[in-house]
Formats: sequence, structure tokens, C-alpha cells
Amino acid sequence: MATRNSPAKSAVLELVRIRQSLAAWYRRARRDLPWRHTRDPYAIWVSEIMLQQTRVDTVIPRYGRWLARFPTVKALAKAPLDDVLAEWAGLGYYARARHLHRAACEVVEQYGGELPADVAAVRALPGVGRYTAGAILSLAFGQREPILDGNVIRVLTRLHAIDEDPHASPTQERLWALAAELVADGDPSEINQGLMELGATVCTPRRPACTACPLARQCRAHATGRSETLPAPSRPTRVVAVEQVSVALVRDDKILLARRPPTGLWGGLFELPTDERRPGESLDTAVRRVAEERVGLRFDSWQPLPVFHHVLSHRRMTFHGAYASVDRGPVRRRGYDAHRWVTLEAARSLGISRAMDRLLSKLP
Ligand code: ADE
Repeated sequence: MATRNSPAKSAVLELVRIRQSLAAWYRRARRDLPWRHTRDPYAIWVSEIMLQQTRVDTVIPRYGRWLARFPTVKALAKAPLDDVLAEWAGLGYYARARHLHRAACEVVEQYGGELPADVAAVRALPGVGRYTAGAILSLAFGQREPILDGNVIRVLTRLHAIDEDPHASPTQERLWALAAELVADGDPSEINQGLMELGATVCTPRRPACTACPLARQCRAHATGRSETLPAPSRPTRVVAVEQVSVALVRDDKILLARRPPTGLWGGLFELPTDERRPGESLDTAVRRVAEERVGLRFDSWQPLPVFHHVLSHRRMTFHGAYASVDRGPVRRRGYDAHRWVTLEAARSLGISRAMDRLLSKLP
């Protein structure tokens, strides 16, 4: 009998070892996170959407609060979008909340309020991409669906010493195939969460803790001294500088907030009437134009608010705030779909962006 394994057989054995080491490490070293105490598909879905662009520490208290307010898909579907966006306030990337709400309505209409245990059906919901569908199916239903997010990409590019740009599409397909291979056996929930956890706590972007890594023996980047240089950097995203002009219009101790249309940046959120400053436009002209064009109001004088910068993934915004008292006169909205006169306190509990909250905090 042959004593050496064939290459195919050693690859299989290697895979078995990787799965076992990863799952055992996960059971031992995982952080105690609230969404790890449930198998409720809705709760897992909410956690995955919140975690997409927001840090774990920020998500922890918000996840509990969300589930207390919207404990089921039906409760979420029944809530008005304004309430949903207000509950999301401060988490950023509000399209996630709008999609979650719309998806909840679809789940109620099409599946009676229960998320289906079917990857194609889940993937068809608004805001649910390949990663989120894989996470929900594997964590809530134990299905053999792979996941690939930033953490998993880092783990897999290092484990297999992949030199190519991990965001290039052939590399993405290769990475998805490698992720799928890992969940083809064993416990898919533990393996997927193990990958995420390893990427978050050990296989970190800088100074990975290879001595604490359960996969160090199998890791080709580690073996060749490339743990810190892989994955290859992707092309940097272009960041555009934008100047925003926002006007707090005050009448009877209330300020005017207007709601942006449902799609696009900050869609469905309330804000002080705002527009981009035009090239060469003086601040005085811009402040008066924004108030007149966007809500049809004029004033004699205005006061500036402290200027501040607000950085989004593709934009570096400079906010020039102003406040002014206005007399009676109708609000004529342009580019907004609702408005309200509210106290400053009430304004801050509407669905507003973090940038707007920062701006409101500067009002005297
Ligand atoms: N990031 C994305 N999903 C996560 C999860 N389920 N646990 C921890 N971090 C995550």
C-alpha cells in the first residue's frame, strides 16, 4: 500500500484540518456578541445589515435597541419609514435601513413574515447581497453557503498567498470558490463565523497576530513572510471635495427641517435646507439662494455657524451652516418631499444623518 498521500488526498486532508482548527479556535476564542446568542433569522439579518459598514462596538447597543423596538419582521414592516430611519440615526449609510424596511414588507407580503430558508429568495430581497444572504443562510439555517467580506478576503488571500487584487472580478470568483470549499463539510455557522472572527481579531490588516493563529501552519503567506503585505492594495477610491451650505430657518423657536426624496445619498432623511455651494459663489449668495430655492423663504440677515468637515467614503464635505429668523410665509419645497417646523430637541430625534446632527449641535 502507498504510504504517501496523493496530491489530491493531501489537499482534502489540509482542508479538513483547516476546518477543524478554525471551528475549534472559534468555539474557544470567539467574542461574546449579542447576535451570537440567537438563531432567529430576522435578528441575524438585522445584525448583518448593521455590521456591514459599522463597527461592532457601535452596533452592540443599537442592535438590542432595534430588536426591542422592532422585534419581528412584521413589527418592522408595520412601522412608518420615518420611525425606522429615526431608529437608524447615527449608524450611517441609510440605504441599509430603507432596504431593510422594504425587504421586511416583502417578507410579510410574500412569506407571511418568516424569512425563507432559501438562498435565491433571500438574495432577491432589497439590500441583501451575496455576502448577507450567505451569512443569514449559514448562521440562522445552518446551510452550506459561503460568505466573503473584507475580513474573509484577508484571511483567504493570506492563507492561499493570493497576490492579485482581491477586488478584481476573477480573484473574487476564486475567493468565493475557496470560501465555498470551506463550508462544504463541518458546521457552516462555526466555519463562517470563525473566518470573520479570525479576520477581525487575529488576521488583522496591520500586524496580524500570526503566533496566535489557528491556521498559521497552513498559511502560505505566513510561510513566505508575506502576512503583512497581503492582500495586495486595491486601487484607492477617489474622494471628491464638496462644499455644502445648510440654513437653519427659525420661526417661533422652531426650525425648519425638510425631508430628502427616498433615493440617493441620505434619502428619506430630514435635514436643514441644504445645497452644494456653486463654484465662485459667495457664502452670502449661497445661503440666501439655498433658503429661497429649496424652501421659498427669505430673510434680512443671517449668522454663520462654525464650519466643519464631514468625511464619507467618497466625499469630503465642508459644511457651512447659517441661521436666520424668518417671518410668516408659506414653505415652497423644491427637491424635498415633506417638511416640519420642530424644536431643536425634536429635530435631533427625527431621522437625520450624522452630519446633520453635528450641524444642529452647533446651533446656539
Ligand atoms: N461582521 C459582519 N458580520 C459579523 C458577525 N456576525 N459577527 C462579528 N462581526 C461581523
